[in-house]
Amino acid sequence: MWNVLEAFYDSVPRAGARVEEHGELVLFLQAGDGYPYYARPRFPGGDPSVEDVLEVRARQRELGVPEALEWVHETTPGLLAVARQAGMEVLEAPLLVLDPEKLPERHPHVRVLGTRPVEVTVVAELAFGSPGTDAGTVGVEERDAALAAAVPTSTRHRHAVADLPGEGVLAVGTAQRAGDVVEIAGIGTLPAARRRGLGGAVTAELARDALERGAELVFLSAGSLEIARVYERVGFRRAGTACIASPAS
Ligand SMILES: CC(C)(COP(=O)(O)OP(=O)(O)OC[C@H]1O[C@@H](n2cnc3c(N)ncnc32)[C@H](O)[C@@H]1OP(=O)(O)O)[C@@H](O)C(=O)NCCC(=O)NCCS
Repeated sequence: MWNVLEAFYDSVPRAGARVEEHGELVLFLQAGDGYPYYARPRFPGGDPSVEDVLEVRARQRELGVPEALEWVHETTPGLLAVARQAGMEVLEAPLLVLDPEKLPERHPHVRVLGTRPVEVTVVAELAFGSPGTDAGTVGVEERDAALAAAVPTSTRHRHAVADLPGEGVLAVGTAQRAGDVVEIAGIGTLPAARRRGLGGAVTAELARDALERGAELVFLSAGSLEIARVYERVGFRRAGTACIASPAS
């Protein structure tokens, strides 16, 4: 499974990226669909050194892009210590894979689309503006104000919206595919609509859609253990750790 995942991580950014090699690291330098810039171990089998990390960070600074490095711990276990030695702090994000038999019942108000409704951008921005899983006050009023100024964007991905009668779009998410592998990302629920099962439902419907379209492996990474619980409730199980490194503060 890890090789399949590595191939996915290596191929997704290449769709819209210029690529540079720095020792055992590959630096992706242009993003399709707003995908962030970062460096990863060379695929297959890169085993980066402290010097490689320092070199790629210097190049990222020179280019004015974030000093970001990402990898899967199970594939490149040595990089955790190496990145820290090179002055980075590392978020160890739970990486979860779908157990298709554990998907819950279909949710009546979640739709999956091959277009990107403006609500996806607006609701995701408001959701990620209030990190964590706690409910909050930001809700439909703020969403509608932001929608008035929003501009539609095109997409290569699948998007899900939880669109509740009388309330509109309250939760969103996105799935991107390479080969037979689908990654779910950008799951967000308006703070005032949290803890009603909508984040889980959007995730589950994107996963079901991926399976119906022939995906062999559906995975995601969660920003924290508490967020991982949302995904575990709808059929995902912890398989490993996605590491995301940024300069230590
Ligand atoms: C993470 C996030 C998407 C979860 O959205 P959500 O709609 O609140 O998710 P759910 O309602 O499915 O699950 C949240 C909690 O509500 C609980 N819940 C689900 N349905 C419920 C219901 N009907 N009544 C009461 N609680 C319920 C769940 O069990 C879960 O509890 P837990 O945190 O104790 O495990 C949301 O908090 C968010 O947008 N956070 C900021 C952005 C972010 O970090 N996104 C994830 C990036 S990896």
